[in-house]
Amino acid sequence: ATAAAAAAWRVVVTRRVAPEAMQILRDAAPALDLDVWDSEDPMPRDQLLARLSVGADALYCMLTDKIDAAVLDAGGDRLKMVSTMSVGYNHIDTSECKRRGVVLGNTPDVLTETTADTTVGLVLAACRRFKEATASVADGTWGTWKPNGMCGPDVYGATVGVIGLGRIGAAVARRLRAFSCKILYTGRAPKPEFEEVLDAKFVRLEELLAEADIVIPLCPLNESTKGMFDKSKFRAMKKTAVFINAARGELVNQEDLCEALTEGEIFAAGLDVTTPEPLPTDSPLIKCPNCFILPHIGSASKGTRTAMATLAAKNLVASYKGEELPSEVKL
Ligand code: NDP
Ligand code: DGY
Repeated sequence: ATAAAAAAWRVVVTRRVAPEAMQILRDAAPALDLDVWDSEDPMPRDQLLARLSVGADALYCMLTDKIDAAVLDAGGDRLKMVSTMSVGYNHIDTSECKRRGVVLGNTPDVLTETTADTTVGLVLAACRRFKEATASVADGTWGTWKPNGMCGPDVYGATVGVIGLGRIGAAVARRLRAFSCKILYTGRAPKPEFEEVLDAKFVRLEELLAEADIVIPLCPLNESTKGMFDKSKFRAMKKTAVFINAARGELVNQEDLCEALTEGEIFAAGLDVTTPEPLPTDSPLIKCPNCFILPHIGSASKGTRTAMATLAAKNLVASYKGEELPSEVKL
């Protein structure tokens, strides 16, 4: 139903978002009834359930909100739309949304280049041992310049294996081509559109793991990718391999990664995502000198976060107006 025909929507917003996005929500006509959790911290789950239970037509959420059957039940028949301020939607039970006819919007494209920049940052940091190097500056063990000190593998000229050559995977590959890297990739099907521009070669996962100097999954988290990187995959990599994860922590069996890093099965890792987030400070991974970890800041440039927030607002308002969403997840 269009807004003109229906009553104004009540919308639950689970976090304080960019003023530009709030303005888009406030400008919707007839005026939306906005219930905003005005905080930098997540809306507690009991609050989310309570605020949906009193009646809501749409939910503007974050990747930290688990949108499962219980949450959708709290929204009940009145809930028509979920707009997530993220490209990834593994935090949302999509089959439950589909079953209930709840429309889902997400924020692809606007974060691709920023996330690719961060991913290349992880590649450089992990290959060239930035964690150990900065620690030695801080703790006074820097010492003198050493001919063999803090050496790691070159990024320049490396063979890079991308698992999931989608928007971000291709943007990372494009950047690494400028480092004269050779690009191998694997996924559900070859991507002829990238083969020529990136000189990328489609290979089986086994071949990619055996040949790549740098292994980078950039596929979504789902039932087929959960726990994909386990002991057997780390063993299949070169002992000199560097593993980079800017996709989702749950792609990785973290105990196996930790063992691979400490036992010398692989050379190093660079992670923007972990399980859980935040990673507890006593996590063995944090103690690994060869594991460089960022706190899920892949898309964290001011411009990109604003673009994500406004796209999520536009998705919600389009749904309210009965228009095509700028970015709808096809369920
Ligand atoms: P895309 O959908 O454009 O790319 C994902 C790619 O993965 C597609 O090419 C897809 O293939 C492929 N794929 C799907 N399933 C598999 C599988 N089982 N094995 C191998 N490849 C597979 O998504 P984006 O590039 O926009 O984003 C990718 C992910 O990155 C997001 O889902 C999110 O989890 C993460 N992300 C993390 C960020 C961060 O802050 N660290 C920021 C943004 C995203 P096909 O084309 O056939 O579907
Ligand atoms: C996403 O959008 O999926 C990221 O993880 C955060 O930008």
